[in-house]
Amino acid sequence: MIAPSRPRILMCPPTHFSVDYDINPWMTGNRDRIDQARAQQQWEDLYRHISHAAQVELIEHVPGLPDMVFTANAGLVYRDTAVPSRFRHEERAGEETHFTRWFSGNAFAVDALDGMSFEGAGDALLDRGQPLLWVGYGHRSDGHAAVALQRLLGVETVPLQLVDPRFYHLDTCLCPLSGGELMYYPAAFDAASQAAIAARVPEDKRIVVSEEDALAFACNAVNLDDLVILNRASPALRQRLGQAGYRVQETPLDEFLKAGGSAKCLTLRLDEPGLN
Ligand code: ARG
Repeated sequence: MIAPSRPRILMCPPTHFSVDYDINPWMTGNRDRIDQARAQQQWEDLYRHISHAAQVELIEHVPGLPDMVFTANAGLVYRDTAVPSRFRHEERAGEETHFTRWFSGNAFAVDALDGMSFEGAGDALLDRGQPLLWVGYGHRSDGHAAVALQRLLGVETVPLQLVDPRFYHLDTCLCPLSGGELMYYPAAFDAASQAAIAARVPEDKRIVVSEEDALAFACNAVNLDDLVILNRASPALRQRLGQAGYRVQETPLDEFLKAGGSAKCLTLRLDEPGLN
Protein backbone atom coordinates (compact mmCIF):
# COMPACT_ATOMS: atom_id res chain seq x y z
CA MET A 1 0.00 0.00 0.00
CA ILE A 2 1.25 3.49 -0.82
CA ALA A 3 1.49 5.71 2.26
CA PRO A 4 -0.59 8.89 1.84
CA SER A 5 1.70 11.84 1.14
CA ARG A 6 1.92 14.56 3.77
CA PRO A 7 0.89 18.14 3.08
CA ARG A 8 3.78 20.28 1.80
CA ILE A 9 4.39 23.73 3.23
CA LEU A 10 6.91 26.43 2.29
CA MET A 11 8.48 28.49 5.06
CA CYS A 12 11.32 31.03 5.27
CA PRO A 13 13.52 31.13 8.39
CA PRO A 14 13.49 34.69 9.80
CA THR A 15 17.23 35.27 9.47
CA HIS A 16 16.79 38.90 8.38
CA PHE A 17 13.36 39.58 9.86
CA SER A 18 12.70 43.14 11.08
CA VAL A 19 10.22 45.97 10.75
CA ASP A 20 11.94 48.51 8.51
CA TYR A 21 8.92 50.26 6.99
CA ASP A 22 5.22 50.79 7.57
CA ILE A 23 2.73 49.30 5.10
CA ASN A 24 -0.01 48.13 7.49
CA PRO A 25 -1.40 49.45 10.80
CA TRP A 26 0.32 46.71 12.82
CA MET A 27 3.75 47.93 11.73
CA THR A 28 3.09 51.51 12.84
CA GLY A 29 5.39 52.36 15.77
CA ASN A 30 7.20 49.02 15.55
CA ARG A 31 10.13 50.03 13.38
CA ASP A 32 13.32 48.43 14.75
CA ARG A 33 11.36 46.87 17.64
CA ILE A 34 11.82 43.20 16.76
CA ASP A 35 13.57 41.00 19.30
CA GLN A 36 15.49 38.82 16.83
CA ALA A 37 16.20 35.94 19.22
CA ARG A 38 12.58 35.80 20.30
CA ALA A 39 11.35 35.91 16.70
CA GLN A 40 13.70 33.06 15.82
CA GLN A 41 12.44 30.98 18.78
CA GLN A 42 8.78 31.63 17.95
CA TRP A 43 9.35 30.71 14.31
CA GLU A 44 11.13 27.48 15.34
CA ASP A 45 8.23 26.54 17.63
CA LEU A 46 5.78 27.08 14.77
CA TYR A 47 8.03 25.06 12.46
CA ARG A 48 8.08 22.21 14.99
CA HIS A 49 4.29 22.12 15.35
CA ILE A 50 3.80 22.15 11.58
CA SER A 51 6.45 19.48 11.04
CA HIS A 52 4.38 17.02 13.08
CA ALA A 53 1.72 17.07 10.38
CA ALA A 54 3.41 18.31 7.21
CA GLN A 55 6.59 18.25 5.19
CA VAL A 56 8.19 21.70 5.42
CA GLU A 57 10.35 23.08 2.62
CA LEU A 58 12.52 26.13 3.15
CA ILE A 59 13.51 29.15 1.09
CA GLU A 60 16.49 31.20 2.20
CA HIS A 61 15.82 34.68 3.57
CA VAL A 62 17.31 37.40 1.37
CA PRO A 63 18.81 40.36 3.27
CA GLY A 64 16.95 43.65 2.78
CA LEU A 65 13.57 41.90 2.30
CA PRO A 66 12.37 41.57 5.92
CA ASP A 67 8.79 40.51 5.05
CA MET A 68 9.96 37.56 2.96
CA VAL A 69 9.28 35.40 6.03
CA PHE A 70 5.59 35.72 5.13
CA THR A 71 5.65 33.04 2.44
CA ALA A 72 1.84 33.13 2.11
CA ASN A 73 2.59 36.12 -0.08
CA ALA A 74 5.02 34.28 -2.36
CA GLY A 75 2.09 33.50 -4.63
CA LEU A 76 -0.87 31.19 -4.97
CA VAL A 77 -0.30 27.52 -5.74
CA TYR A 78 -2.99 25.58 -7.55
CA ARG A 79 -2.10 22.06 -8.72
CA ASP A 80 1.20 22.44 -10.59
CA THR A 81 0.75 26.17 -11.28
CA ALA A 82 2.15 28.99 -9.15
CA VAL A 83 0.70 32.46 -9.60
CA PRO A 84 3.40 34.72 -8.18
CA SER A 85 2.47 37.83 -6.19
CA ARG A 86 2.60 41.31 -7.65
CA PHE A 87 2.96 43.41 -4.53
CA ARG A 88 0.99 46.60 -3.97
CA HIS A 89 3.90 48.21 -2.11
CA GLU A 90 7.33 48.62 -3.64
CA GLU A 91 8.90 47.73 -0.27
CA ARG A 92 7.97 44.08 -0.99
CA ALA A 93 8.37 44.03 -4.77
CA GLY A 94 11.95 42.77 -4.45
CA GLU A 95 10.63 39.45 -3.15
CA GLU A 96 8.94 38.60 -6.45
CA THR A 97 12.02 37.40 -8.34
CA HIS A 98 13.22 35.23 -5.45
CA PHE A 99 9.88 33.48 -4.99
CA THR A 100 9.40 33.09 -8.75
CA ARG A 101 12.82 31.49 -9.03
CA TRP A 102 11.94 29.12 -6.19
CA PHE A 103 8.68 28.10 -7.89
CA SER A 104 10.41 27.49 -11.25
CA GLY A 105 13.21 25.56 -9.55
CA ASN A 106 10.67 23.34 -7.79
CA ALA A 107 8.75 22.19 -10.84
CA PHE A 108 5.87 24.67 -10.78
CA ALA A 109 4.60 26.29 -13.98
CA VAL A 110 4.70 30.01 -13.24
CA ASP A 111 1.78 32.03 -14.62
CA ALA A 112 1.46 35.64 -13.42
CA LEU A 113 -1.59 37.91 -13.48
CA ASP A 114 -0.81 40.90 -15.70
CA GLY A 115 -1.46 44.52 -14.85
CA MET A 116 -2.83 44.15 -11.34
CA SER A 117 -1.76 43.79 -7.74
CA PHE A 118 -2.21 40.34 -6.25
CA GLU A 119 -0.69 39.12 -2.98
CA GLY A 120 -0.92 35.38 -3.40
CA ALA A 121 -2.24 33.04 -0.73
CA GLY A 122 -2.54 36.04 1.58
CA ASP A 123 -5.61 36.99 -0.45
CA ALA A 124 -6.68 33.71 -2.10
CA LEU A 125 -7.86 30.76 -0.02
CA LEU A 126 -9.35 27.51 -1.27
CA ASP A 127 -12.44 26.35 0.51
CA ARG A 128 -12.08 22.81 1.94
CA GLY A 129 -15.73 21.81 1.68
CA GLN A 130 -16.50 22.88 -1.88
CA PRO A 131 -14.41 23.59 -4.99
CA LEU A 132 -14.12 27.36 -4.76
CA LEU A 133 -11.48 29.96 -4.17
CA TRP A 134 -12.22 32.90 -1.85
CA VAL A 135 -10.39 36.00 -3.11
CA GLY A 136 -9.92 39.09 -0.92
CA TYR A 137 -9.48 42.54 -2.42
CA GLY A 138 -9.54 46.17 -1.43
CA HIS A 139 -6.28 46.69 0.40
CA ARG A 140 -3.55 44.73 -1.36
CA SER A 141 -5.03 42.73 -4.25
CA ASP A 142 -7.12 44.33 -7.00
CA GLY A 143 -10.80 43.57 -7.48
CA HIS A 144 -10.03 42.13 -10.92
CA ALA A 145 -7.89 39.36 -9.40
CA ALA A 146 -10.86 37.04 -8.74
CA VAL A 147 -12.02 37.07 -12.37
CA ALA A 148 -8.46 36.69 -13.66
CA LEU A 149 -7.78 33.73 -11.35
CA GLN A 150 -11.00 32.00 -12.37
CA ARG A 151 -9.98 32.30 -16.02
CA LEU A 152 -6.39 31.24 -15.39
CA LEU A 153 -6.99 28.31 -13.05
CA GLY A 154 -10.47 27.16 -14.05
CA VAL A 155 -11.70 27.24 -10.47
CA GLU A 156 -14.77 29.16 -9.35
CA THR A 157 -13.79 32.28 -7.40
CA VAL A 158 -15.79 34.40 -4.96
CA PRO A 159 -14.49 37.96 -4.50
CA LEU A 160 -14.70 39.34 -0.96
CA GLN A 161 -14.15 43.03 -0.25
CA LEU A 162 -12.02 43.82 2.79
CA VAL A 163 -12.98 47.05 4.55
CA ASP A 164 -11.00 47.20 7.82
CA PRO A 165 -7.34 48.26 7.38
CA ARG A 166 -6.29 46.06 10.32
CA PHE A 167 -7.40 43.04 8.30
CA TYR A 168 -5.67 43.94 5.06
CA HIS A 169 -5.18 40.39 3.73
CA LEU A 170 -7.94 37.78 3.49
CA ASP A 171 -5.95 35.33 5.60
CA THR A 172 -6.01 37.75 8.55
CA CYS A 173 -9.79 37.44 8.85
CA LEU A 174 -10.92 34.19 7.17
CA CYS A 175 -9.77 30.59 7.38
CA PRO A 176 -11.35 27.63 5.56
CA LEU A 177 -11.14 24.46 7.68
CA SER A 178 -10.75 20.86 6.58
CA GLY A 179 -14.30 19.85 7.56
CA GLY A 180 -15.78 22.55 5.32
CA GLU A 181 -16.20 25.12 8.11
CA LEU A 182 -15.26 28.74 7.56
CA MET A 183 -13.74 30.57 10.53
CA TYR A 184 -13.99 34.32 9.97
CA TYR A 185 -14.46 37.80 11.38
CA PRO A 186 -17.52 39.24 9.59
CA ALA A 187 -16.87 42.95 10.29
CA ALA A 188 -13.70 42.81 8.17
CA PHE A 189 -15.95 42.44 5.09
CA ASP A 190 -18.49 44.71 3.43
CA ALA A 191 -22.17 43.76 3.63
CA ALA A 192 -22.31 42.20 0.15
CA SER A 193 -19.32 39.98 0.94
CA GLN A 194 -20.83 38.90 4.27
CA ALA A 195 -23.96 37.96 2.32
CA ALA A 196 -21.88 36.08 -0.27
CA ILE A 197 -20.31 34.01 2.52
CA ALA A 198 -23.70 33.31 4.11
CA ALA A 199 -25.08 32.23 0.72
CA ARG A 200 -22.27 29.70 0.20
CA VAL A 201 -21.64 28.33 3.67
CA PRO A 202 -24.46 26.94 5.83
CA GLU A 203 -24.82 28.54 9.24
CA ASP A 204 -23.66 25.49 11.17
CA LYS A 205 -20.39 25.59 9.21
CA ARG A 206 -19.74 29.29 9.90
CA ILE A 207 -17.43 29.81 12.86
CA VAL A 208 -17.71 33.50 13.65
CA VAL A 209 -14.85 34.88 15.72
CA SER A 210 -14.99 37.90 18.04
CA GLU A 211 -13.04 41.09 17.44
CA GLU A 212 -10.76 40.12 20.34
CA ASP A 213 -9.91 36.78 18.72
CA ALA A 214 -9.52 38.41 15.31
CA LEU A 215 -7.07 40.93 16.77
CA ALA A 216 -5.08 38.03 18.24
CA PHE A 217 -4.86 36.66 14.67
CA ALA A 218 -6.99 33.60 15.46
CA CYS A 219 -8.19 33.49 11.84
CA ASN A 220 -4.58 33.40 10.69
CA ALA A 221 -4.43 29.70 11.48
CA VAL A 222 -2.60 26.81 9.86
CA ASN A 223 -5.06 23.94 9.51
CA LEU A 224 -3.69 20.47 8.79
CA ASP A 225 -6.39 17.82 8.97
CA ASP A 226 -7.84 18.13 12.51
CA LEU A 227 -4.98 20.29 13.81
CA VAL A 228 -5.40 24.09 14.03
CA ILE A 229 -2.21 25.98 14.84
CA LEU A 230 -2.59 29.62 15.79
CA ASN A 231 -1.12 32.43 17.88
CA ARG A 232 -3.94 32.58 20.44
CA ALA A 233 -7.64 31.79 20.80
CA SER A 234 -10.14 32.62 23.56
CA PRO A 235 -11.59 29.76 25.63
CA ALA A 236 -14.88 30.25 23.73
CA LEU A 237 -13.22 29.85 20.34
CA ARG A 238 -11.16 26.88 21.52
CA GLN A 239 -14.37 25.25 22.73
CA ARG A 240 -16.18 25.95 19.44
CA LEU A 241 -13.30 24.46 17.44
CA GLY A 242 -13.14 21.50 19.79
CA GLN A 243 -16.86 20.83 19.30
CA ALA A 244 -16.27 20.80 15.56
CA GLY A 245 -13.61 18.13 16.07
CA TYR A 246 -10.39 20.18 15.91
CA ARG A 247 -7.32 20.10 18.14
CA VAL A 248 -6.10 23.63 18.81
CA GLN A 249 -2.38 24.29 19.21
CA GLU A 250 -1.52 27.77 20.43
CA THR A 251 1.98 29.00 19.69
CA PRO A 252 2.92 32.60 20.54
CA LEU A 253 3.91 34.67 17.51
CA ASP A 254 3.78 38.20 18.92
CA GLU A 255 7.09 39.23 17.35
CA PHE A 256 5.50 38.61 13.95
CA LEU A 257 2.27 40.36 14.92
CA LYS A 258 4.41 43.52 15.09
CA ALA A 259 4.74 43.20 11.31
CA GLY A 260 1.06 42.30 10.84
CA GLY A 261 1.50 38.57 10.42
CA SER A 262 1.06 35.30 12.30
CA ALA A 263 0.97 31.53 11.78
CA LYS A 264 -0.75 31.24 8.41
CA CYS A 265 1.15 34.19 6.87
CA LEU A 266 4.40 32.39 7.68
CA THR A 267 3.39 29.41 5.52
CA LEU A 268 2.45 28.57 1.96
CA ARG A 269 0.63 25.34 1.15
CA LEU A 270 2.31 23.74 -1.87
CA ASP A 271 -0.08 20.82 -2.50
CA GLU A 272 -3.34 22.47 -3.54
CA PRO A 273 -6.13 21.51 -3.60
CA GLY A 274 -4.93 19.75 -0.46
CA LEU A 275 -5.71 16.26 0.77
CA ASN A 276 -8.08 17.60 3.39
N1 ARG B 1 4.36 43.12 6.83
C1 ARG B 1 3.73 42.26 5.87
C2 ARG B 1 2.89 43.09 4.90
O1 ARG B 1 2.34 44.08 5.31
C3 ARG B 1 2.90 41.22 6.55
C4 ARG B 1 2.31 40.22 5.62
C5 ARG B 1 1.43 39.22 6.27
N2 ARG B 1 1.03 38.23 5.35
C6 ARG B 1 -0.20 37.72 5.21
N3 ARG B 1 -0.38 36.76 4.37
N4 ARG B 1 -1.21 38.22 5.86
O2 ARG B 1 2.79 42.80 3.74
